[in-house]
Amino acid sequence: MTLSPTRDSEVTPGGPAAARIGLEARAASSTPVTDREWWRTAAIFQVYVRSFADGNGDGIGDLAGVRSRLGYLASLGIDAIWFTPWYRSPLADGGYDVEDYRAIHPDFGTVAEAEALISEAAALGIRTIVDVVPNHVSDQHAWFREALASEPGSDARARFWFRDGKGPNGDLPPGNWPSSFSGSTWTRTMNPDGTPGQWYLHLFTPEQPDLNWDHPDVRREHEDVLRFWFDRGVAGVRIDSAALVAKDPELPEIDGEYAAGQHPNLDRDDLHEIYRGWRTIAEDYSGVLVGEIWLADLKRFALYLRPDEIHMAFNFDFMSRPWGADGFRAAITETLAAHEPVGAPATWVLSNHDVTRPVTRFGRADSAFAFDAKRFGTPSDLVVGARRARAAAMLVAALPGALYVYQGDELGLPEVEDIPLDRLEDPMHFRSGGVDPGRDGCRVPIPWTNDAANAGFSPDGTDAAPWLPQPADWARYSVTAQQDDPTSTLTLYRRMLELRRGDDLQHGAFAWQDDTSDVIAFRRGALLHLTNCGTTNVPLPDDADVVLASGPLTDHTLPADTSVWLAVHSV
Ligand code: NOJ
Ligand code: CA
Repeated sequence: MTLSPTRDSEVTPGGPAAARIGLEARAASSTPVTDREWWRTAAIFQVYVRSFADGNGDGIGDLAGVRSRLGYLASLGIDAIWFTPWYRSPLADGGYDVEDYRAIHPDFGTVAEAEALISEAAALGIRTIVDVVPNHVSDQHAWFREALASEPGSDARARFWFRDGKGPNGDLPPGNWPSSFSGSTWTRTMNPDGTPGQWYLHLFTPEQPDLNWDHPDVRREHEDVLRFWFDRGVAGVRIDSAALVAKDPELPEIDGEYAAGQHPNLDRDDLHEIYRGWRTIAEDYSGVLVGEIWLADLKRFALYLRPDEIHMAFNFDFMSRPWGADGFRAAITETLAAHEPVGAPATWVLSNHDVTRPVTRFGRADSAFAFDAKRFGTPSDLVVGARRARAAAMLVAALPGALYVYQGDELGLPEVEDIPLDRLEDPMHFRSGGVDPGRDGCRVPIPWTNDAANAGFSPDGTDAAPWLPQPADWARYSVTAQQDDPTSTLTLYRRMLELRRGDDLQHGAFAWQDDTSDVIAFRRGALLHLTNCGTTNVPLPDDADVVLASGPLTDHTLPADTSVWLAVHSV
């Protein structure tokens, strides 16, 4: 595409240009609660409770803290909050080791407080999504304790994957499956008399024993848990590790390539029937299911999104692409094409609590996200990274489908890469033998103000040390520091999410304007989106007015690493 020179257009976010083309937001309040299809275009904000806001001054985020910040979330313009697991848990894996789904972690609050939070959020038009982890439970879960106290071959053990070890004394693990968290997937138990016993399977840490989904209790229990939370008013459930849940009961060694659906523990065909059951329950409550599905094959991925299965799933394909027009365009085209036949919305995800913050990632020589590539000391140019993260935020916000925003990305937080080693908690770090820095760097407590010891993470007057240390300059990213600054990342996100509620970005037809240059260009109705992934300024078209830009525009051109939304005259 040739972008012709522009006429004078003011960079006045949401000025007359926005109003003229229907970009102007509908009433600042939320999606009407009667809109059953709200999730198709929603902006969903991810709250990692432990690190969001501390309400009682002990340095640990909690539900009281979230309740005190609901006004902030409403002003951000989101439709829903997804809470990472908030249940009782030993926190061996940040709460993805659930001890009791019907109890809130005592550090976070109580079920009564969760109910209050859900209804207070709803009153502000914000729906709640909770996280359910069907692949495994905590080793402190009542079922696992019961299994350990029971005999080999007992029904209590059959809810998990207990096996005798190999070798003459059973000293060798029963299998060779690799763990998502490095190391073995088998841990040996101790018999009550102190002798070595059977082994059990855990795809993640030993504190997260895998459940056997062929056991009827496992199904029943999860269906009950869904109802428990839907009964408390939640609007949706995120399904953790959704494609790992079903196993080949023979637990055969993993070896070579597998035909679709044949892998011993990934993307097995019997999963679909499990999630069809979940869908029926969700439908009873008009609830929504969101799948965490890491699959390279987008056609297989889309099968989970058929109309009687999961409503939507995280799109990790986009996140795995490095900064650049060709890769982004391919991700967008392939994602939209994969979703179209099943009628599910695409989702757009720049980050979450498992991955490197976009500001740091986009400042690196290799800016694609990959778990196995994480290493200490990978250099990043945070100035470039911040510019690209802002541009990428506008890019994904302009695409058709649902948008996920991880807490702190709206403040442009970088990954914290210098947390003292003795403060790291993530098992991914420890199980990698210390090679992988782990995920603590994107979980550092949020800075709210610039005048308190803990950057306002804890309430006024309390100077508790946050559970993970904040960098010395953390307050400069705080909400207080950014909220009145028209150039801040927070202001950009607010305006972006507000404009995203207008007709064009909710319903406007998507059409590529270009498929070759360094400039990603597409229309959503009367809005023209451009992202300059090249290195030189590109003239803006003269038949369009600037509505919002991710950075300064110079001489009516779009600089490198910048996105712009334009109101097109001829619609
Ligand atoms: C995916 C979650 O996002 C991650 O944080 C967790 O460690 C694994 N699933 C295991 O539950
Ligand atoms: Ca607290």
